[in-house]
Amino acid sequence: KTKKLKDEIFKANKLAALNFHRRLYSKIGHAALEYLYGRGIDDSTIKKFGLGFSPVNGDEVTEFLRNQGFSQEFLLTAGLSLKSVSRKYHDRFKNRIMFPIIDVKNNVIGFGGRVLDNSLPKYLNTPETPVFKKSKTLYAINYAKKSKEDKFVIVEGYMDAIALHQCGIDFAVASLGTALTSEQGKLIKKYRENVVISYDADEAGVNATLRGLDILEGLNLNVSISTVPKGKDPDEFVRKEGIEAFRKMLQNAEPLIEYKIKMYKKDIDLSRPEDKIKYIKKISSDLSLIKDQVKRDVYISIVSKDVQIPENTVRTEIEQFVNRFS
Ligand code: CTP
Ligand code: MN
Ligand code: MN
Ligand code: MN
Ligand code: MN
Repeated sequence: KTKKLKDEIFKANKLAALNFHRRLYSKIGHAALEYLYGRGIDDSTIKKFGLGFSPVNGDEVTEFLRNQGFSQEFLLTAGLSLKSVSRKYHDRFKNRIMFPIIDVKNNVIGFGGRVLDNSLPKYLNTPETPVFKKSKTLYAINYAKKSKEDKFVIVEGYMDAIALHQCGIDFAVASLGTALTSEQGKLIKKYRENVVISYDADEAGVNATLRGLDILEGLNLNVSISTVPKGKDPDEFVRKEGIEAFRKMLQNAEPLIEYKIKMYKKDIDLSRPEDKIKYIKKISSDLSLIKDQVKRDVYISIVSKDVQIPENTVRTEIEQFVNRFS
């Protein structure tokens, strides 16, 4: 029963995606198409990702799908339609560039829609439906899983993933926002052992980012961080600096624990005992998350030497964290 419902939603989503895509290349989609060209996206990429444009207003997609035999109730469940106070059904996505979200089995599970100007919300996504849960989703994984590369590079946004794929980084996936979830981590883990995080260098918050990364470390993935210069995101970076610069940045990605050491040491003075104690406690908590014994030992040794404290002190501190969390 639920399998049948899910399959129906996939079918409706696929039809909607095709409808959006056709509209992008019709007269009404002209501004949207120009917008994408203006951001450096070419026709073959538009086709590859099935990008589209939603009707400016009204109920065109709802009507289109009604004519294909889907009920209004069903279209609400699928997240494609909304019911207004006047009890009239209309389209959820209006006047937006449409990004179909495709899962590992090539099903269209939902959509993201971007406005063409600065109005808010910038992106509107399919709500939770029987087939879509944002926190379980990695955009572009349908392509990235086929890459020859032994890693994924995780970016924040639709446009980051698309821009990277267009210039040959075919192992990019987008987490659709900043906070990585354990469900996304588990999905990554099914396909790869290595991940490079290339998030926006904006106010989204280094701390929030770091917390998300602990989840990946806890899953025993090899996590490293590639930092784009301040104020940019990977899409802007490749467009301005070029793909070679991006590849170089990926090569110089820092292992998560080294990135953390660097971040923690930034704002402290290790010659002050107080700061030194704080630092050791903080970094021990991070070391305690490293599941791989060899890797953990190597970094215990590095940290101990760095702050000139016996390894055993660090080990004891780590033990406390392990006990506290288990
Ligand atoms: N996002 C969202 N809803 C919002 C804002 C953001 O779902 N209102 C998600 C989208 O998946 C978006 C990602 O978070 O792609 C990253 O957000 P942001 O960096 O603000 O957008 P960009 O991807 O950089 O979008 P653009 O380059 O088109 O401005
Ligand atoms: Mn034109
Ligand atoms: Mn951002
Ligand atoms: Mn961007
Ligand atoms: Mn961004």
